[in-house]
Amino acid sequence: MGTNVRPADMARITTPELAEAFISGQIKELQAQIGDKKVLLALSGGVDSSVVAALLIKAVGKQLVCVHVNHGLLRKGEPEQVIEVFRNKMNANLVYVDASDRFLDKLAGVAEPEKKRKIIGAEFIRVFEEEARKLDGIEFLAQGTIYPDILESDGVKAHHNVGGLPEDMKFELVEPIKLLFKDEVRVVGKALGLPDNMVYRQPFPGPGLGVRCLGAITRDRLEAVRESDAILREEFARNGLEGKVWQYFTAVPDFKSVGIKDGKRTFAYPVIIRAVNTKDAMTATVENVPFELLQHITARITAEVPDVNRVLFDLTPKPSATIEWE
Ligand code: XMP
Repeated sequence: MGTNVRPADMARITTPELAEAFISGQIKELQAQIGDKKVLLALSGGVDSSVVAALLIKAVGKQLVCVHVNHGLLRKGEPEQVIEVFRNKMNANLVYVDASDRFLDKLAGVAEPEKKRKIIGAEFIRVFEEEARKLDGIEFLAQGTIYPDILESDGVKAHHNVGGLPEDMKFELVEPIKLLFKDEVRVVGKALGLPDNMVYRQPFPGPGLGVRCLGAITRDRLEAVRESDAILREEFARNGLEGKVWQYFTAVPDFKSVGIKDGKRTFAYPVIIRAVNTKDAMTATVENVPFELLQHITARITAEVPDVNRVLFDLTPKPSATIEWE
């Protein structure tokens, strides 16, 4: 519905007042489009789908059915936050699907990065489709498409690059933020009352921690990625780097090295820290993280994360490296 071209005279949404005007206009449009029908939304907890959910909750309340698929590759605390914000605080109709085991079983033994991405994308569509089939009378599918998605690709979000829902499940699309740039989405999200750590969160790839648990994913290394990432995020927030550094995360490779703990020899995994800045993700520079902070994070990770005995800092800009390791 509607144009895919941003009108030349459309004002950039930079203030709460402009966001409020956008929100009230969209509520009217959404109500006119949807009427008394039901809308389905895959809610990842990322800023785009969260803003779409919050808009639709305001416009059509319980006619919106949000499906949050936990593929087991989310960051620590993410599924809990989606449930807390949308089900508990906003009183949304939220279906929570814990599909972790399913995804991890499908991914077992698969080491090739593109194959891993394909499996995660395809399985995501399958789980979402199964949930959609359980619901009656859905006529609309909401999507968090934003303007760069339209400009850079065919209007389909990058992590949905494996096809989509089958022919017999074609819904009419609802895309309320498709003419907005990312910074505008954040201003609207803030005006909708979403928490700061949801609105200003750093980019997170669709395949999630799956591309940071390098090689064939194992549960022990996946936990090491999740726990070390949580420590890194906590320390960056505590030291004023949250919102200042564009993207930061940890990755865990699929090899072990020798170390020593409590006087005993260990044979365990390294954790790699990556912290980069970029404008468009095409090139990136490495953040100059204070050395004392890196030492402190290293001490915490090696003390608190099981099966880890080393921490490495990735000094490589893009190019020659990519931002992610896979
Ligand atoms: P690279 O690693 O290509 O990453 O330098 C550039 C940006 O894109 C993100 N990224 C992805 N996002 N699905 C996504 O939705 C993916 O498969 C994917 N791979 C990379 C990455 O986190 C970085 O912000």
